Amino acid sequence: MSALVRVEGVRRDYRAGGDVVHAVRGVDLAIDAGEWVAIVGPSGCGKSTLLNLLGAIDTPSAGRVFVRERDVSSLGDREATRFRLLDVGFVFQRFYLMPALTARENIELPMAEAGVPRDARRARAMELLAYVGVADRARHFPAQLSGGEQQRVAIARALANRPALLLADEPTGELDARTGAEIIALLSRLNREGTTLVVVTHDEELAASAQRVVHMRDGVIIDNHSRDAGLIVPVRMQQGEGERTVRWPLRTLIAWLFVGRQCDEVRAVLARGETERDGTRAAWAPVHLSPEELTAIERTFPAAAPSRALDPRRARAWLVTSNGSAPLVPDDSRIVEAAPQATYRWFDYGVWADVWEARHGDGVVRFEMPRDGERAPWSTAP
Ligand SMILES: Nc1ncnc2c1ncn2[C@@H]1O[C@H](COP(=O)(O)OP(=O)(O)OP(=O)(O)O)[C@@H](O)[C@H]1O
Ligand SMILES: [Mg+2]
Repeated sequence: MSALVRVEGVRRDYRAGGDVVHAVRGVDLAIDAGEWVAIVGPSGCGKSTLLNLLGAIDTPSAGRVFVRERDVSSLGDREATRFRLLDVGFVFQRFYLMPALTARENIELPMAEAGVPRDARRARAMELLAYVGVADRARHFPAQLSGGEQQRVAIARALANRPALLLADEPTGELDARTGAEIIALLSRLNREGTTLVVVTHDEELAASAQRVVHMRDGVIIDNHSRDAGLIVPVRMQQGEGERTVRWPLRTLIAWLFVGRQCDEVRAVLARGETERDGTRAAWAPVHLSPEELTAIERTFPAAAPSRALDPRRARAWLVTSNGSAPLVPDDSRIVEAAPQATYRWFDYGVWADVWEARHGDGVVRFEMPRDGERAPWSTAP
């Protein structure tokens, strides 16, 4: 499969006064459709310059940028404008909404430029406003919106013409931590639903949400680390005399290790390359992950669903006491008594199910409800 974006030997020199600034000094990079790449590095290292080259806002002094196998580094003005309008979406730190236009009109603007008929663009703008969570702000002007709302509108505008690629330069740079987290959640959702994202950021949370982090320094890429949760790790399982090797995606190994452990312990165990669980000894080649990398993978696990309803007839029920836990048969009266009192606890990776608990007598009744169509990734059941 060919990459959505391919950067080959790209340099960008700026002439300022009598001096030449080598903003980008030879970058090679490939980005596949559906990826989420964060570009990080110290101020002035060339991140924005590189992003602008990807989006044909700027042209390289040397080298080429291909998007969908098309050389966008040598487009004429008209073609470049068309490419920026239809094939990429831009999101900036400072939003850059048109102050005299309402939120809806701002989103309609790129569609109007692309020749989308009025009714169609109006409908799409309303749909996008709802999608980014500001449907009730359609008639507001940018000055009447909060920073977070303006950025949502700017993201909707960037999506208007359904670009293949969304480029964002410090999209949370002007926002407080909470609003920034909401924008990160919105970007995550976009990516899950198929948008390819390239995001320049200083925001560690934002970088941690990406699949891959490209580190730049002085105009070059110094690290291009894919935290590929799908990396296959052979794990040797030893139980008594028996021994077998399973080939698990890294994500599966991590989910398995998370049972009963916190992030820091999982990281340490991963780096140690061995552990024991339920009488099985497991060993693998040590994997070193940063806390951010581990968090990014953990975020791909099912999230708790606190609003999910408990159906005691479908749940596996256990009585947990200081002596351990014992299964309860379906018509046990303790199930009926405990169920109305039970409160949602969490999604338990160990049993791969949502868990509710209620105190009962001198123990706790625990309900485990698997999710439809889902089973533990390490499960060998067909
Ligand atoms: N138009 C320009 N003319 C001259 N020099 C420029 C121009 N644009 C950028 N530069 C220089 O190129 C280098 C890279 O700039 P760039 O904006 O890409 O950095 P950055 O990594 O995005 O930094 P920041 O994190 O501060 O946004 C810097 O030294 C900058 O001063
Ligand atoms: Mg910058």
